[in-house]
Amino acid sequence: ATIFLKDYKAPTFRITDVQLTVELGEETTRVTSNLSFSRNTDGGQQVRLHGENLTLVSLEVEGREIPPAEYTHTDKDLTFLAPSDQFTARIVTDIRPQDNTELEGLYKSSGNFCTQCEAEGFRKITYFMDRPDVMATFTTTVIGDGSKYPVMLSNGNLDGHGTLKDGRQFFRWVDPHPKPAYLFALVAGDLACVSDEFVTMSGRRIDLKIYVEKGDEDKCAHAMQSLKNSMKWDEEKYGREYDLDIFMIVAVSDFNMGAMENKGLNVFNSKYVLASPETATDADFDGIESVIAHEYFHNWTGNRITCRDWFQLTLKEGLTVFRDQQFSADMNSAAVKRIEDVQRLRAAQFPEDAGPLAHPIQPQSYVEINNFYTATIYEKGAEVIRMIHTLLGEEKFRKGMDLYFDRHDGQAVTTEEFVAALEDGSGVDLTQFRRWYTQPGTPEITVTDQYDPATRRYSLTVRQDNPKAGPKAPPLHIPLSLGLLDDQGHELMEGAAGNMLNLTEHEQTFTFDDIPARPVPSLFRNFSAPVKLGSNPADERLDFLFKNDSDPFNRWEAGQRLATRCLLDMVEKHDSPERPNAPSGTFMDAFAALLTDEDLDPAFRAAAMALPGENYIGQQMPIVAVDAIHEARSASMRSIGTRFEDDLTRIYNQNSGQDNMGCRRLKNVALSYLTATESEDHILLAARQYREATNMTDRVAALGRLVDTDHPEHDAALADFYARWETDQLVIDKWFTLQAMASRPQAMDDVEGLLKHPAFTLLNPNRVRSLIGAFAAGNPVHFHSISGRGYRFLSDRIMELNKTNPQIAARLVSPLGQWRRYSPERQTLMKEALNRILETENLSPHVFEMTNKS
Ligand code: ARG
Ligand code: ZN
Repeated sequence: ATIFLKDYKAPTFRITDVQLTVELGEETTRVTSNLSFSRNTDGGQQVRLHGENLTLVSLEVEGREIPPAEYTHTDKDLTFLAPSDQFTARIVTDIRPQDNTELEGLYKSSGNFCTQCEAEGFRKITYFMDRPDVMATFTTTVIGDGSKYPVMLSNGNLDGHGTLKDGRQFFRWVDPHPKPAYLFALVAGDLACVSDEFVTMSGRRIDLKIYVEKGDEDKCAHAMQSLKNSMKWDEEKYGREYDLDIFMIVAVSDFNMGAMENKGLNVFNSKYVLASPETATDADFDGIESVIAHEYFHNWTGNRITCRDWFQLTLKEGLTVFRDQQFSADMNSAAVKRIEDVQRLRAAQFPEDAGPLAHPIQPQSYVEINNFYTATIYEKGAEVIRMIHTLLGEEKFRKGMDLYFDRHDGQAVTTEEFVAALEDGSGVDLTQFRRWYTQPGTPEITVTDQYDPATRRYSLTVRQDNPKAGPKAPPLHIPLSLGLLDDQGHELMEGAAGNMLNLTEHEQTFTFDDIPARPVPSLFRNFSAPVKLGSNPADERLDFLFKNDSDPFNRWEAGQRLATRCLLDMVEKHDSPERPNAPSGTFMDAFAALLTDEDLDPAFRAAAMALPGENYIGQQMPIVAVDAIHEARSASMRSIGTRFEDDLTRIYNQNSGQDNMGCRRLKNVALSYLTATESEDHILLAARQYREATNMTDRVAALGRLVDTDHPEHDAALADFYARWETDQLVIDKWFTLQAMASRPQAMDDVEGLLKHPAFTLLNPNRVRSLIGAFAAGNPVHFHSISGRGYRFLSDRIMELNKTNPQIAARLVSPLGQWRRYSPERQTLMKEALNRILETENLSPHVFEMTNKS
């Protein structure tokens, strides 16, 4: 059944308080829920509560047991009549967390109990009005065997604990902040705890606790530091202080997503908590910092102010991603962070927005809300907030945010209320800007320019088109941050940040007077809007910007465009006699300049040296030439490695042994070019780096170079890696991923073989992502093999996962949904794979929606 935003109705009754008792059992877990109802709107006496996979034991209303004849009960809900406008109910249900493989509701992970309730998991724990506009205070008493579950946690502050007469242990938690049920959490187990504290700006001392499996205590320091940094940053940047006496994080190894912002009790995928230099890469460390920050920031943008309904999801997600991006930019190199954020947007969101599942950041309808935790809601949502920030400027943006927090604290609101608060607080009109919330598609921008030496006037004509939004879609309000450079590379307009142009028409001309000579424009600095720039300037202009632009993002971008053009040229001439086997001279010169530019930040330099990936190149083609792209990119890597062997070797040596992320990144980019030459010396260099590495960044970078060869070091290093890290699942995930992404001819056999590996299981989402997800999204050559084996492999796994974990199964469908972008033979095979899935018995709504819409 499709749910529409236009059908939204406020609830007739509200639940204002919940007293929950959860008795944990090995067979049955009993949940007793005491609810306080009060009338919210006219609309009759009927009370409908959601509930799934529950065994109803009893229902009492105002202390009176209700006989089955007086309620109706389906596999989705429980309906009864309210005796008055204010009343209480007591509901007892039984559940079986140990059988819950969907990992939604209450389930078990490594013997511990934990929960995931967003979006609609609370209804799998007890009957409830499981919708975000119903906000209640919660008191939760957890009862269980203290020897098995010495730690028992829920939201809020600890209010008491002890031992019951029957010997069971109990803990009572009180959360005074009204919240929707999706923010409920419960954890129980034999967990270790790492403690610290934080003193807030008003002087309150907060206990900080990270709970992990025993033995992992020494891997929490980075997460804890990231948490403290986040708490401080939110105070300084947004004036937001934490509001309970304790903040807890629990790491679990079976988790459908990254993490969850449950009030006062965040539950995390262990991948985003546990790290030591020996077991986690620099990228893992960054991921932990940003996810810890993201979940912490939700306390204000998500929890204190939440969503009225799930169509408003970007209200909290887009805003919170924007906030975590700002935070990470402040903690690290802002330029490199921006590059990474844009790469992610382009890799995941642009294809989504161009494909069959395109939706605006505020969708109008859905079948299964879990399918709408998308790159569009999150990443494009964050870009939309960023544009508001750009349009308002730092100071007014803060004023708008202050008003938003003031006006809506404690409420469940809409994106419209958010934009209105920003508008009112800043005094800036966002009427036209609001269209970003309702139009899908990535706008395509074309720019032409003219210079008249007689009048010294320069003009830029800018056009926007958004075919995905339909031919009649009105123009968007697009901030275009612009710089003009003279032929020496100097800025012609005040401030290196450039000028902000407001593009509000389909086509618009901007003029600039007193420009002494034809300038070079630097467009959309810092990626000021999530658009595609269609018109491609000449190589010389790109080369010039690559060397001179003061905006680091556009400097990087110019280099990437130059590289992309070369690679596309090689792809186009793939079957012709003039096929080049190396990028153009202009590119090679620009690359050479990078190799000797010691003033650049090493991490930025590494990003600028890396060639665009195969998927990105494919995105620039109407029909993706899978094999030609792979060959062009490999040939380019090889020719660059050969041509610049000396410089690359020098960079490799200079940056080895430095305890610095940027240096490691730079060194490992150099290594990737050197090994691309396939010379024995360089393969042995990678093998040596693999053996001697003192950190996972270097070890995995080296192993990644070896897995793509047939050199004896291939098997040796993989076997060594496995033996070394066998007991650390998160590290073994990297081992699966590297093999899943290898392009050597046997890779497909390897991947199929790994399904049977004892360390592999479809029941763990991280394992699924590390092998199957990585293969489908990161191994274009084998996934799109013309034999159809890759597609069959993926559809088989989706059909298996449909039975145990439909959320995870549904997430794997999207690579097949891109079939329109492939050659006719591949299209046929991809559609066949989709049809097989559609014909599966007992197809979940999750997988059905994704497959059917593809
Ligand atoms: N709110 C969580 C976060 O972004 C993610 C929850 C995802 N839930 C889901 N059903 N996919 O921090
Ligand atoms: Zn979030």
